[in-house]
Amino acid sequence: MPSNDVNRQWLLANRPVGWPKESDFKLAEGPVPEPGRGEVLVRTLWLSVDPYMRGRMRDVKSYAPPVPVGGVMEGGAVAKVLASDNPKFVPADIVEGRFGWQDYAVSDGKGVRKIDPTLAPVSSALGVLGMPGLTAYFGLLDICRPKPGETVLVSGAAGAVGSLVGQIAKIKGARSVGIAGSDDKVRWITEELGFDAGFNYKTVPNYGAKIAELCPNGVDCYFDNVGGEITDAVFPLLNPRARVAVCGQISQYNMEKLDQGPRLLWHFVRQQLKVEGFLVFQFADRYKEGLNQLAKWLTEERIRYRETVVEGLEHTPAAFLAMMRGENIGKQVVHVADA
Ligand SMILES: NC(=O)c1ccc[n+]([C@@H]2O[C@H](COP(=O)([O-])OP(=O)(O)OC[C@H]3O[C@@H](n4cnc5c(N)ncnc54)[C@H](OP(=O)(O)O)[C@@H]3O)[C@@H](O)[C@H]2O)c1
Repeated sequence: MPSNDVNRQWLLANRPVGWPKESDFKLAEGPVPEPGRGEVLVRTLWLSVDPYMRGRMRDVKSYAPPVPVGGVMEGGAVAKVLASDNPKFVPADIVEGRFGWQDYAVSDGKGVRKIDPTLAPVSSALGVLGMPGLTAYFGLLDICRPKPGETVLVSGAAGAVGSLVGQIAKIKGARSVGIAGSDDKVRWITEELGFDAGFNYKTVPNYGAKIAELCPNGVDCYFDNVGGEITDAVFPLLNPRARVAVCGQISQYNMEKLDQGPRLLWHFVRQQLKVEGFLVFQFADRYKEGLNQLAKWLTEERIRYRETVVEGLEHTPAAFLAMMRGENIGKQVVHVADA
């Protein structure tokens, strides 16, 4: 037991206005918590930083309550069980749960799952074999439902979710086209992940013309991670009965006043589109199916993944901000401690 150790915790110091700053977070130190009856004490090994965390910093009505000012920042983590009064866990188990931006946490075990460390490096439980992988799997297969020969376009294509969407679309026999924010990212998705085409939206002046060039048969499925002007350019190019999975709108997350976009609803009528927003949690009763399939594809090397690793809990806000700026390729994680 780490009785003489301290628990470093990142607290939300202020509600950010616009782009968050490192000063919106505060590093505090406290005692390592004691597990109570039925609880486990865990040591964080890996932390996930994700776009949704920007939403938790706002005090607005959403699908989840905000982090209170002064509260520990929320987040998924992979951790090692140090002590357990919970029959489901024993010391040395590697687990994944919502333990927050801190070195140690106690949990009643709800929403905590055991990780098989022989399957893949345990940090993958925050990416390909975790929430982002499930988001790609269910969002693409249940909402876009690509058919062989169709064209699937994905924005945010070199991120944790997007990089898997394009690969799963290929497994299903579709043509994958990705939009990402650097030449390196486009090279990675096309040369290593097997996307058929891609472009760097930061160097292309006319998104619509480029998408039309790379999708000569139009777009049958659009998996939207970013929204904004990229998405505005996609709608006129959607085929009749195309499906759009609205997964995220990261281009809007730091805006205090929402962007006024073009009015796109006529395209819904003209092309009889199905546009559906979703939250990965709505598929919770099928997570096992998704994780088993993703693990199978991973071991068969039909999907690949990449992580961008920042070292040290003390750099968690910097890692979060770097991810929001697009400095990550694949899943952004923070390495906190070794098992
Ligand atoms: N619905 C759900 O249940 C669910 C679950 C998980 C994630 N999501 C959403 O899925 C999306 C991707 O999440 P992720 O975890 O996979 O993150 P990620 O793609 O690994 O990282 C975020 C990426 O967003 C891109 N980005 C940032 N600002 C942008 C802008 N203004 N325009 C275009 N792209 C921008 C950056 O890449 P570039 O270099 O390409 O700009 C950055 O790397 C997010 O919108 C997230 O909120 C939804």
